[in-house]
Amino acid sequence: METITVTKTPDRALIYDELIPQIRALINGERDSIAAMANVAAAIHQTFGWFWVGFYRVQGPELVLGPFQGPVACMRIGLGKGVCGTAWKEKRTIVVPDVDLFPGHIACNALSRSEIVVPMLNNEGVVEAVLDIDSVDPNTFTEADRIGLEQICQVLQQAIHAA
Ligand code: SME
Repeated sequence: METITVTKTPDRALIYDELIPQIRALINGERDSIAAMANVAAAIHQTFGWFWVGFYRVQGPELVLGPFQGPVACMRIGLGKGVCGTAWKEKRTIVVPDVDLFPGHIACNALSRSEIVVPMLNNEGVVEAVLDIDSVDPNTFTEADRIGLEQICQVLQQAIHAA
């Protein structure tokens, strides 16, 4: 049986310290990117309870909706569009404390108030996907989340691209 368990604590850095090895073990040896992304989205969602956790995969000129946990969402996002398309274009994590203050934010769901998007780069520096997380509360995502979620994306890339 696959389970994820973390200590109940407000210390997010500690939660990531416990979560990341479990995610590594969970997806170790899984080279199918959809399968690995599906379980990573579920692991993050069940750990933190955020409103929407999922992936968009680069497919030609667009990001296309991939595995996620949460309500139905936009399916295609162009380069430079919204928070996701901006993280893709700029190849960096974007933390949005208040989505109403992010020009061009794409409101897939009116309940989203803050957001973090982490791009997943391959060894050649090309973005292959983004991890997108939405919260119903403003100011949800901290520096600990940026660091922890970037590490999770690295673990995912390593699993997908393992020989
Ligand atoms: N808000 C995102 C769109 C994706 S949904 O939040 C799931 C954006 O602006 O790119």
